[in-house]
Amino acid sequence: MNGFNYQEDRLHCEDYPLDSLAKTYGTPCFVYSASAMTAAYQTIKAAFECQNPLICYAVKANSNLAVLKQLCDLGAGFDIVSGGELIRVLRVGADPSKIVFSGVGKQTDEIEAALAAKIKCFNVESEAELLHIAAIAERLDTKAPISLRVNPDVDPKTHPYISTGLKESKFGVPMNQALRLYTKAQSLTGITVKGIDIHIGSQITQLAPYLDALDKMFSLIDQLSNQGIILEHFDIGGGMGVRYEQEPDFPIDALSDALQQKMADRKLEIILEPGRYIVANAGILLTQVLYTKHNESRAFAVVDAAMNDLIRPALYDAVQAVLPVIAQTNPSERFEIVGPICESGDFLAKDCLINLESGALVALASAGAYGMSMSSNYNTRGRAAEVLVDGAAAQLIRRRETIEDLLAAETNLDTVTRAPLATISAR
Ligand code: LLP
Repeated sequence: MNGFNYQEDRLHCEDYPLDSLAKTYGTPCFVYSASAMTAAYQTIKAAFECQNPLICYAVKANSNLAVLKQLCDLGAGFDIVSGGELIRVLRVGADPSKIVFSGVGKQTDEIEAALAAKIKCFNVESEAELLHIAAIAERLDTKAPISLRVNPDVDPKTHPYISTGLKESKFGVPMNQALRLYTKAQSLTGITVKGIDIHIGSQITQLAPYLDALDKMFSLIDQLSNQGIILEHFDIGGGMGVRYEQEPDFPIDALSDALQQKMADRKLEIILEPGRYIVANAGILLTQVLYTKHNESRAFAVVDAAMNDLIRPALYDAVQAVLPVIAQTNPSERFEIVGPICESGDFLAKDCLINLESGALVALASAGAYGMSMSSNYNTRGRAAEVLVDGAAAQLIRRRETIEDLLAAETNLDTVTRAPLATISAR
């Protein structure tokens, strides 16, 4: 975890104590360290100095406007996957020529909006999508810049739900169709061929899958070039893993060295799409114990955060450390940390050596990526607040949702009294 440390036994985000933060903003609450995000971004930038890549932050990892603004100010571009994410990044002043648009199911209105914004590139995932984008661009009397996302068929050795570069996955076009599709793309009036891209998976901790993918892609790039298809850029995607528990630091320098060596003297702009690497360890989910309970074999701490706030443990069996907000010297109990939701899958952590009682505050570590961005309103629970800490200053960057927020989009039944709603907070 970067940006989080104990000062006089109190867990702080930078110089702000988390117990004070809980008092001011309530719980559950995502807390992000501005300097940790900057540091992670700068680490990537420095590691890839040689290639001077365009770093397109993958918005899906954490799409809060304040986070996007900070990265935009640092010079980042953005990898978006929806019209909603396009609007977010444009709203923080992103330079459209630094936006790439990924995803297997881009829809007509999203394609039109991205063309109107003049984004850098559509990362195209199928022949059908290529033809659809071409037709829209032609109708609008413009040209869509595209790259083909090629599926290199490598095993990234990560959780199956976040492995994307295996040939049986829904992502990208098979290597052996690339030449035909590039030739087709070049013949379409509404298309300008710009580059090629891959994204083999997420939370990758080893170098080998990248090396395999790079070898395959450079040989494809050469094959295309021999056929007169000259590409301007190579987007190697995201996926760089972080330390949740015991994972080794991702060998980012080694990846950059290998890329440099394999690229040889080919003239290609490099694009990266890191998400998790920039934000995961810059954030925690702060939550308070409501009750503790014991059955014959287990001790449970029921906290006010739940799987709707942080779904990673339930969905991927992800393990994220649990840190007591007030340091403990001799923890003696083993707790399962669970939420109030009516599902046995509603757990945040298992088998934690920690002493807990009602009212205690804990931080779920490494929750800056795919935490808030994957949260939901399941059980009519409002989404948590988000706070950005910079030094000793904290700023509320998303207020806690109220029940009125949740009901606002639904048919308003005049007969329903509104009176009691105001008094219940939407946890
Ligand atoms: N580029 C593309 C095309 C992607 O699909 C993704 C992530 C990224 C970049 C960024 O990957 P990253 O650098 O963050 O690994 N919800 C899962 C992760 C899903 C990743 C989906 N695609 C989790 O919580 O582990």
